[in-house]
Amino acid sequence: MQRRSRFIGFGGYLPERVVTNDELSLQVETSDAWIRERTGICQRHIANEKESCTFMAVQAAKQALEYAKISANEVDAIIVATCTPDKVFPSTAVMVQRELGIEKAFAFDVSSACAGFVFALSVANNFIQMGQAKNILLIGSEVYSRIMDWNDRRTCVLFGDGAGAVLMTAHDQDDGNGVLSVHLHTDGQYSDLLFVEGIPSIGNEGCFLRMNGKEVFRHAVTKLSETVEEALSAHNLSHEDIDWLVPHQANLRIINGMGKKLNLPANQVVVTVDRHANTSAASIPLAMNEAIRDGRIQLGDLVVIEALGGGLSWGSSIFRL
Ligand code: UT7
Repeated sequence: MQRRSRFIGFGGYLPERVVTNDELSLQVETSDAWIRERTGICQRHIANEKESCTFMAVQAAKQALEYAKISANEVDAIIVATCTPDKVFPSTAVMVQRELGIEKAFAFDVSSACAGFVFALSVANNFIQMGQAKNILLIGSEVYSRIMDWNDRRTCVLFGDGAGAVLMTAHDQDDGNGVLSVHLHTDGQYSDLLFVEGIPSIGNEGCFLRMNGKEVFRHAVTKLSETVEEALSAHNLSHEDIDWLVPHQANLRIINGMGKKLNLPANQVVVTVDRHANTSAASIPLAMNEAIRDGRIQLGDLVVIEALGGGLSWGSSIFRL
């Protein structure tokens, strides 16, 4: 029997403050019409000083634990995917450990930009399959508002803040449920297409995200569909077998393009980019949390996730809930 990891808890946190496109258009030369048409984004949540990367991660983690009915002390490992930690070190994950009062777990961060959740999932999945951990809190938490150049209209309209969390557990039944596989890729020759100048942390201003949006867009659709195809073919599955696509939420045009390539009707693709904008490593767990809590994704459904971001790094995973 093959041990698999299974998602049994879900949580999310979005900052209280909502910033509309119209509000941004008072700050930079842009418009609600341009942002909606080119990205599908209508609004984003922006963190206040209290809503740090750790704070949001803890709120999302608490919800995931509650959903899973697992107490904090049953958690063996905490992995946080983030590119916007509160400090260079210690990791956000150990701060979450402290806030949740977990004594025996080990905790660390994974940094892989917008693909961070998929990379961290791969790490967590391997720990579980190897028997090194039974219950893992896997969190994506991002405060991209801290690394925005609020004078750069090409980037500042695209991102938002938030955190999403899942609780993964070892699953030893041969019922086909759980994570089937995770597929990871990077190509450093494109590292200058999307990057942050300097090392950001609270109190270190002037570290801005820079992106060649057009080029990243061009790579996104090709590379994402290749990695989803590789995930499907690894298990002899076809497009028709997919119940849900939960994509990274960068741009509605990329999301729709992926849906089309997979022959999926729009109502089988989970979309949050309109309300959350791009929350980087938090976008997939936030979208999963939403679609599970509102009853769209059900136990036994076959779900595909995919993401691409700075690196370039990209990947996919396929799992049966
Ligand atoms: O999550 C990480 C991965 N990131 C992504 O996947 C992002 C991928 N890229 C994209 O989503 C799109 O490329 C963007 C949304 C960033 C840009 O859309 P685009 O259709 O590629 O626009 P563009 O960059 O070609 O710009 C078109 C025009 C330019 O003006 P000119 O040079 O044609 O006169 C821009 O200066 O739109 C202008 N522009 C804007 N106008 C109004 C750029 N940003 C804005 C803006 N408001 N906010």
